[in-house]
Amino acid sequence: MAKYKFKWLGIGALMLFAACHKSSIPTNTLDGIFTTEQAQRGEGLFDQHCARCHSLQEFTGFSFTTNWSGTSPAALYLIIANNMPLDQPGSLGNAQVTALLAHILAENGMPAGDSPLEADLEFLSSITIAAAHSKNPTSL
Ligand code: HEC
Repeated sequence: MAKYKFKWLGIGALMLFAACHKSSIPTNTLDGIFTTEQAQRGEGLFDQHCARCHSLQEFTGFSFTTNWSGTSPAALYLIIANNMPLDQPGSLGNAQVTALLAHILAENGMPAGDSPLEADLEFLSSITIAAAHSKNPTSL
C-alpha cells in the first residue's frame, strides 16, 4: 500500500512541476513578456524618435502580421537597435529599444505581464511573434 501512495505522490509532483514550468516560460508574445509602463514609455519614444519617418500602421495590424508573425522578436529588436533611427543608427539604449518593442507589441493586442522585457537576445530568439489581434477586427 505504502508503495502505491508514493507512486501517486510522485506523479502529482511531476504534474505540478509541469504545470508551473509551463506557465513560467513564455513561448510567444501573448505570454505577457513586457509591462504596461514599458509600453507606455515606448509610445513616447516612438513619437520622439520614429514618427517623423514612420506611422504606427506600418508596425501594426495586417502589416505586422504579414511581416513579423511567426518570426522571433530578436530580429525586430536588432533592426531597431542596430539600424534605427535610420539617420542615427545605434543611438538608442537597450532600455529604449525594449520599450519600443513593448509599445509595438502592445499596439498589436499582446497582453502586458509582470516583468519588463529585457534586452536578452537568447530569450528574444527563443519565442515567436504572434499574429496581431484586436478587439476590433476591422482595424486589422
Ligand atoms: C530618418 C527616417 C527614419 C527614422 C527616424 C526611423 N526609421 Fe525605421 N526605417 C526607415 C526606412 C527608410 C526604413 C526602410 C528601409 C530600411 O529598412 O533600411 C525603415 C525600416 C524600419 C524597420 C523595418 C521594417 C520592416 O518591415 O522590415 C523597422 C522595424 C523600423 N524602421 C523601426 C523604426 C523605429 C522603431 C524607429 C524609431 C526608433 C525608426 N524606425 C526610426 C526610416 C526611419
